[in-house]
Amino acid sequence: MRRVLVTGGAGYIGSHTCLELLNAGFEITVVDNLSNSTEESLQRVSTLTGKEIAFVEVDLQDVRGLDTVFSKGDFETVIHFAALKAVGESVSQPLQYYQNNVTGTINLCQAMQSHGVTDLVFSSSATVYGLPKILPLTEQSETLIHEVTNPYGRTKLMVEFVLKDWQRACPEMNIALLRYFNPVGAHVSGQIGEDPSGLPNNLLPYVSQVAVGKLEKLGVFGDDYETSDGTGVRDYIHVVDLAVGHVLAVKKLSEKPGVVTYNLGTGIGYSVFQIIAAFEEASGRKIPFEILPRRTGDIAACYADPSLAKLELGWTANRGIQEMCVDGWRWQSNNPNGYAS
Ligand code: NAD
Ligand code: UFG
Repeated sequence: MRRVLVTGGAGYIGSHTCLELLNAGFEITVVDNLSNSTEESLQRVSTLTGKEIAFVEVDLQDVRGLDTVFSKGDFETVIHFAALKAVGESVSQPLQYYQNNVTGTINLCQAMQSHGVTDLVFSSSATVYGLPKILPLTEQSETLIHEVTNPYGRTKLMVEFVLKDWQRACPEMNIALLRYFNPVGAHVSGQIGEDPSGLPNNLLPYVSQVAVGKLEKLGVFGDDYETSDGTGVRDYIHVVDLAVGHVLAVKKLSEKPGVVTYNLGTGIGYSVFQIIAAFEEASGRKIPFEILPRRTGDIAACYADPSLAKLELGWTANRGIQEMCVDGWRWQSNNPNGYAS
């Protein structure tokens, strides 16, 4: 089995995927500029698996550096996680987001092309669906660039178009576009997990930091949506289920399918209040909260129809909301300051 190159592999989803790839017998090389991660995550993955990870600190803007990585490796597949992902920051720094996420991907594709690497798995997002008109979302649901609510989301949809055009021009390419819903939780060991810098933007990291006592209370962004209890509903997916989906996508590409697109979600939506209750149960801690106005750009509800991934990858999300909260809490309580603890 030849090597998999993992861009952004030191990050949250990348580190969990590295672990699953190693356990499945793949050899891996990680490139990451460590702008939102530390090498410690990879060291922990090595310890957990007893296997080595080749790591190169490279920025995807560094065309020469990338070329060197490809010259030294014999890669069959690339899994491309490396991106900036903070929605609010993308609104204030759009050029940085387009440069990093779109140009970075194009640099990667050019390096793959010059070195004859044909298989690519791309981290897309349910954000490409914009304002859902019909739920659950299938891969056929509309993706309209002007309806995507922020520049970060638009980088994801733009890259999807770039990759589809590339594959049309180079039919030997095989590309899996994986549209993640809301990844949460952590590996069962409590050794690796999500380590946001600064104030968390997302619900689960915020709730865990309230539970561990680092933050005083959660702000609930709106309780007047047209949902069962008025709070926003999302399809939370355990990060280990998501990681396993990548291993199956890598295997799928060996069938030479051209471009394939899969929703990776559970198909079940939970409200903010349901998440608070589940996390209180998992942690045995009270989560104080206050109701705040709606957050700009937020949608009421979003959840997947994941049946295509089941049919074509043989993938289903096996871990439920309680396991997501228990595993997330184990990581947070063992590592109150993330990898710095
Ligand atoms: P993360 O920030 O933890 O991981 C991204 C990694 O990429 C980091 O280690 C960062 O240092 C690295 N990176 C960023 N820009 C780089 C560059 N120019 N060169 C080299 N390395 C670079 O984020 P994550 O949550 O693990 O997300 C991984 C991917 O999944 C991203 O593409 C993200 O947009 C996508 N995604 C994430 C979510 C989510 O909620 N976490 C949802 C949908 C899609
Ligand atoms: N929420 C709060 N308080 C918080 C944080 C979130 O009430 O402090 C609410 C939100 O309003 C929403 C729900 O919790 O109803 C989930 O919010 P997240 O920020 O965790 O997740 P989003 O679905 O808004 O966004 C996530 C990723 C985006 C991605 C999008 C679609 O953060 O990058 O999913 O895939 F684009």
